[in-house]
Amino acid sequence: MNKTIIVSNRLPLQISLHNNNLVLTPSVGGLATGMKSVHEGGKSLWIGWSGLKEEDLDPKLTEKVNAAIAKENCAAVSLTGKDLNNFYYGFSNNTLWPMFHYFMEYTTFEGKHWESYKEVNRKFAETVLEHTNDGDTIWVHDYQLLLLPELIKRERPNVSVGFFLHIPFPSYEVFRALPWREELLNGMLGADLLGFHTYDYERHFLSSVRRILRLDTHFNEISYQGRTLRVDSFPMGIDYNKFRNAAIAHHEQGPEYKSDLKKRLDAHLQSAPDAKMILSIDRLDYTKGIPNRLKAFEYFLDKYPQFREKVRFILLAVPSRSNVPQYQLLKKETDELVGRINGKFSTVNWTPIWYFYRSMPFENLIDLYTSCGVALITPIRDGMNLVAKEYIATRVDKDGVLVLSEMAGAAKEMNEALLINPNNFEQIADTLKRALEMTEEEQAERNAFMQRRLERYSVEKWAKEFMKALHATKQQHHVIVSKKITPEIKKQLFGSYYKAKRKLILLDYDGTLVNFTNIPKDAKPDDALYDLLDDLSNQENTDLVLISGRDKETFTKWFGDRRYTLIVEHGVWLKSGYKEWQALEKLKKEWMNNLRPIIETFVDRTPGTFIEEKNFSLAWHFRKADPELAQQRATELKTVLTSLISNHELSVLEGNKVIEIKSSNVNKGRASSRLLAEKDYDFIFAIGDDWTDEYMFRELPEEAYTVKVGLKETSARYYIKDTDSVRELLKGFLKGKV
Ligand code: ADP
Ligand code: G6P
Repeated sequence: MNKTIIVSNRLPLQISLHNNNLVLTPSVGGLATGMKSVHEGGKSLWIGWSGLKEEDLDPKLTEKVNAAIAKENCAAVSLTGKDLNNFYYGFSNNTLWPMFHYFMEYTTFEGKHWESYKEVNRKFAETVLEHTNDGDTIWVHDYQLLLLPELIKRERPNVSVGFFLHIPFPSYEVFRALPWREELLNGMLGADLLGFHTYDYERHFLSSVRRILRLDTHFNEISYQGRTLRVDSFPMGIDYNKFRNAAIAHHEQGPEYKSDLKKRLDAHLQSAPDAKMILSIDRLDYTKGIPNRLKAFEYFLDKYPQFREKVRFILLAVPSRSNVPQYQLLKKETDELVGRINGKFSTVNWTPIWYFYRSMPFENLIDLYTSCGVALITPIRDGMNLVAKEYIATRVDKDGVLVLSEMAGAAKEMNEALLINPNNFEQIADTLKRALEMTEEEQAERNAFMQRRLERYSVEKWAKEFMKALHATKQQHHVIVSKKITPEIKKQLFGSYYKAKRKLILLDYDGTLVNFTNIPKDAKPDDALYDLLDDLSNQENTDLVLISGRDKETFTKWFGDRRYTLIVEHGVWLKSGYKEWQALEKLKKEWMNNLRPIIETFVDRTPGTFIEEKNFSLAWHFRKADPELAQQRATELKTVLTSLISNHELSVLEGNKVIEIKSSNVNKGRASSRLLAEKDYDFIFAIGDDWTDEYMFRELPEEAYTVKVGLKETSARYYIKDTDSVRELLKGFLKGKV
């Protein structure tokens, strides 16, 4: 039966050794807690690191570990101490984590770490492939495994691969600083569907793909290596009912069942009629803004002394990545700040901050969530932040106020929270006051909205939506792949060619026979191409035609002495073998003088673009320009031109990184129809890569073999990957060379 394989660096449970016995603890962090609910609900296998180093395991222990994790439907990837230092602490947590959270000053670039990252991603790939059968779906998670989708896709092209990033994807300006940016993007593009928490992360990712890999994106789709993959945002939810039900159970719990923590919390609340508690929970991570939060709390107590002895701040920091120096420094800074603030304000009856540095069982977490009237969550950057959502889910009476940083992904969906800028102490202090004084009606009104949303878009729904989109992407992928030229189709194609009596072969030039270059004149034909075209045109009863948007002069220089037919400028001119050029269309040129100055203003404002002037058309090329700016300008230019030329018989065509203005009644379709009218062909083959070739595909009879280069929307019957494959295919027409 088909299964889903979840892959993440950590398994949902971590194993450690105590006196040679295995100790199992749940993993912390949003990825593990969120995906755990998805894993428990279905028939999935979870692959990840067990928490133990390879060196600490002997064969007997390995067996025990494997059995313990198999019980939880998991399988382990074995990592050595060196892997952990270089891949996990090194590249993952000293390069990607700080960089993706905009902490450039903490980001290191070490070749050794990168090598290890590649190596460990390969180890993961090996384990995943061992467990993968055709028809399985693989869902890869997070920044530790950015190369994995491609490693899987390469070996198993027919398996669906999804990828979800649980942290922000940074702006292109930040991402481009990475020495290994191309490799990382290519690794991610192995997935069929890439998911992010917010639209902003998605947009940053697409921007990097366009600018760094120079790939075309069409809305949220990317054509890549013969596949169409999708990028989308899926804001991760929580297991709403689990938190809500636990909170209800806590409210109903008799005093004898209360935990010590709960008793202490209750005691504080009963100490004064207006006593309140402010809660903050996070992994101890510099992205979470803990020092800022403490300083803002200190500022609050200074600015609003009326809250002293009434408000208690509960700071729960979960130990995390404590081998990384920045985390050690943060621990020291937090300890010192807590000490200083407590020292400054404490009285005999009151300590302003209760500080816990440990992981807590779920029940205690619920104690905290349900007892604290305010949650103060102020990350400097956070991909999502599930703690904010969990807090709201546990407020069964609809009371409680969430003060949330606008830098958390969760802020995009939790507009009813009090949103703050984590660097603005004045605003945090004032907002805390507002939160502590907010009426119950207002609290209930705000929370009701958020609870409805959290209930509807739970983690289960999030996973389902992702899977649905992944399967839809796969189906769409199949529709396009079905048009790919297969060996079967080739046999048919060459079979009809050999049988036919009069044959016509129409070949577009740029992007079909040669690759694009930054400057059009550099895309010259090479010797191999000349030989191929000569051989093709020497075939019996074969009319070979190069049909291009290029200008007459260039083609005269390149192909003027050849025996095959040339059609240029989209069908304005035709040159049949060794004869002179003849005009197929009679055109006026005055419009060029009017439009040229307008296009020149676009050249001035868009560095890297230029005008190509042909005999009867003007083309604005933007291949060398910044892709995002160029795309924006292209849309602008098209709008301007379309409004200007409505009275002329002109049309605006968008080709591959070029906008061309020319007479409306000139196109490759019209030109190819003329050829068909002259002779009675019983075999027609046409191939081209861009929009202008579509005229030709549409104009040719149904039985013609029409082929598009690249995986794009087309009226052609078939599609082929790239120019190399085109040349390979054309060789098939040469008798005896099949
Ligand atoms: P991150 O993924 O950066 O750690 P999130 O807020 O998205 O941050 O997720 C944290 C998750 O860890 C939440 O699901 C929360 O319930 C859980 N968690 C937080 N603190 C503790 C703790 N002390 N003990 C156990 N689980 C915790
Ligand atoms: C964040 C990351 C997860 C990671 C978790 C805990 O939630 O997105 O990928 O697992 O933090 O960090 P750790 O380094 O301990 O796995």
